[in-house]
Amino acid sequence: MTKIEKYSLLCEQIKALIEGERDVVAVMANVAAAIHEAMGFWWTGFYCVKPKAEGEGSELVLGPFQGPVACMHIPFGRGVCGTAWERRQTIVVPDVEQFPGHIACSSLSRSEIVVPVFSEAHEVVAVLDIDSRDLATFDATDQTYLEAICALITPICK
Ligand code: SME
Repeated sequence: MTKIEKYSLLCEQIKALIEGERDVVAVMANVAAAIHEAMGFWWTGFYCVKPKAEGEGSELVLGPFQGPVACMHIPFGRGVCGTAWERRQTIVVPDVEQFPGHIACSSLSRSEIVVPVFSEAHEVVAVLDIDSRDLATFDATDQTYLEAICALITPICK
C-alpha cells in the first residue's frame, strides 16, 4: 500500500472512530493509536495546552500517546512542539539535530512533524507530535493528511 492509500484508509477509520464522541481524551487516545498502528511511527501523541501549575500562563502537557515515555512539560515557543504552538502552524523537521532548541525525549528520534490542533474558536488547544527513527520521514503528504486528521478533532475541542 502506498502512503496515500494508508492515510486514506486511516482518515476513514478515524472518522468512524470519533463519530458522536465528545470526550477529547478518549478521542485523542484512539487517534494516536490509530495513526501509530497504521503508519508504524516511532512515537505518536498529543501535547495539550494547559494552565501552568504555578505562575501565570500556559504550557504544553503530555497527553494521550503511543511509544516510549516522553517529557511531560514543554514551554510556549520551546522545542518543535512549543514552536508549532507559537507559530500556529505545522512544522516538518527532516533532521532534529538541525532544529535549534529541539527537545530530545529519545536519542533515537531523527525526524519529526508537529501539527497544531485548533478549537472552534481558532485557539491552539493541543499539538499532534510524531517522531521517526529515520531522517526525513515526513513530507507534504504527511502534513496534508495529519492536518486533516487534526481538523476532525476540532469540533470536539469546544
Ligand atoms: N521533540 C519534541 C518534544 C516531544 S518528543 O519528541 C515526544 C520537541 O522538540 O518539541
